[in-house]
Amino acid sequence: MTQSDSRPHLQDFEGKTAIITGAASGIGLALAEALAARGADLALADIDARGLDAARKRLASTGRRICTRVLDVSSDADVRDAAAEFEATLGRIHLVFNNAGIDMSGELASLSEQDWTRAFGINVFGVIHGIRHFLPLLRRHGEPAHFVSTASGAGLWVNGDFPMGAYAATKYSVVALSEALEQELRGTGIGVSVLCPGPVKTPIAERSNHASESFRAAVATGTAPELVANHTLEAMRAGEFYIFTPTRMRPRLEARFARILDALERASAVTTGMAAT
Ligand SMILES: NC(=O)c1ccc[n+]([C@@H]2O[C@H](COP(=O)([O-])OP(=O)(O)OC[C@H]3O[C@@H](n4cnc5c(N)ncnc54)[C@H](O)[C@@H]3O)[C@@H](O)[C@H]2O)c1
Repeated sequence: MTQSDSRPHLQDFEGKTAIITGAASGIGLALAEALAARGADLALADIDARGLDAARKRLASTGRRICTRVLDVSSDADVRDAAAEFEATLGRIHLVFNNAGIDMSGELASLSEQDWTRAFGINVFGVIHGIRHFLPLLRRHGEPAHFVSTASGAGLWVNGDFPMGAYAATKYSVVALSEALEQELRGTGIGVSVLCPGPVKTPIAERSNHASESFRAAVATGTAPELVANHTLEAMRAGEFYIFTPTRMRPRLEARFARILDALERASAVTTGMAAT
């Protein structure tokens, strides 16, 4: 719900400065465009140098200040150095979008050690490095600030239609990190949100060696990234923590939570029985 008010809550994006990782494509690029259209300056980071250059050119006509940096979010040193450069170039940073991420489809036992390291390095440690090096930039001033990480609907339930258990494991981690961060930052006025999109029409599956046909098909007919970006910014302004996009996951989530709650009920029945004996 609404975040604490020890500093002004984020009302608009005009004159704010945002760091976005994974900014060369898909949801990250759409966030950059939506923020620039609302008057924000941009610090754009991605591992794809050519894509980043194209994004900078595409955004140049907005007249906003734009700083780009090629980095690998799985590298603590890369993210630390980027944070220093962004602050030195753009000054106060108000918004962080830890958005870079990759698909890691495939049955669990089929994945190599390298696959696991890559998936957790980018999807989980990318966010951890953002917490370590970008979050301090938001703490340095008393102006509105918001920290957003992109998880996924797969961060809340494991979709049996796709063999994506490893991806889900990374995204559950992003949800847990975000829930913990929200608790830790309560009272500071720094807002926290976790973006949990359903399928979004981006090149994520094309970049993957592992993507299943069912995942490719879901992404190909997914929500437009521009809609995701606009909805995300509005939800941040409204102080929402969980941010979803249209998906058919509600019945699946209800079934998952009902199963958990039923198991809890049975546990309390056992305890009651034990207490009675
Ligand atoms: N597209 C979907 O259906 C969907 C659904 C739920 C969540 N997500 C999540 O949204 C985020 C953005 O994905 P997208 O769909 O826009 O995909 P995308 O492939 O279009 O964009 C991801 C960007 O991250 C960059 N990137 C990859 N590895 C990196 C690294 N090590 N360091 C820095 N940058 C790196 C890529 O170069 C790319 O520009 C990801 O975290 C993804 O898991 C996507």
